[in-house]
Amino acid sequence: MRRKLAAGNWKMNGLRAGLAEMDALAKAHPAPAVDILLCPPATLIAPAAQALSGSRIALGGQDCHQETSGAYTGDLSAQMLKDAGARAVILGHSERREKHRETSEEVRLKARAAQAEGLMTVICLGESAFQREATNTLDIIGAQLSLSVPDESTGENLVVAYEPIWAIGSGQTPTPEQIGEVHTFMRARLERRFGSGVGRSVRLLYGGSVKAENADEIFGIPDVDGALVGGASLTAQDFSPIIEALEKL
Ligand code: PGA
Repeated sequence: MRRKLAAGNWKMNGLRAGLAEMDALAKAHPAPAVDILLCPPATLIAPAAQALSGSRIALGGQDCHQETSGAYTGDLSAQMLKDAGARAVILGHSERREKHRETSEEVRLKARAAQAEGLMTVICLGESAFQREATNTLDIIGAQLSLSVPDESTGENLVVAYEPIWAIGSGQTPTPEQIGEVHTFMRARLERRFGSGVGRSVRLLYGGSVKAENADEIFGIPDVDGALVGGASLTAQDFSPIIEALEKL
């Protein structure tokens, strides 16, 4: 059985005052029935790890470099994230693919480095509005999936998040049929590549405008094992009901 996962992506939001929100979330969920992951800006990982020690909330980064160390000004390695207290890292988010021109090949190299460090990788993929209208969405997803996911992946170190770019931060979500179609397709692809054991154990998240109001419907879709939540993960008040909706399943 795949354990459900509620993951929060804080993006470039959060100062040290935000640690109080994490603390409130930890207090609201002392013994969660699902996994909870928060990915704050890297500057908050170490203080958050300290503040949340003893809690059931895991921390993650939002990107990492493929090398362990070296002359890469401004970058952070997987080893550094782990050293700061992270247990996971989001990779290949569409904001990095678009604004930093990250390719699926780069995402795969980063993921391989993070997995080698023992971090769980949350690899993001998704089509743009133009791609959904003009081409076959499943072709786009299939190519991103096969190129971004390293061969070394397992059910423990790989989570895949389907995030249609047009649904991120827009308040627009795909229909349950559209989400279900992509998740069923990703599951089949993973089973074909890794065998049914690993293929069935990888968790598949949906991301893009998930909030308390639509969580029940989204979590009821087959092969949706949780969510990657942006805006609604920033406060305990908004994130808690999403975690509770996942716990009900
Ligand atoms: P959103 O972001 O929940 O604010 O739409 C999701 C994401 O980008 O991971």
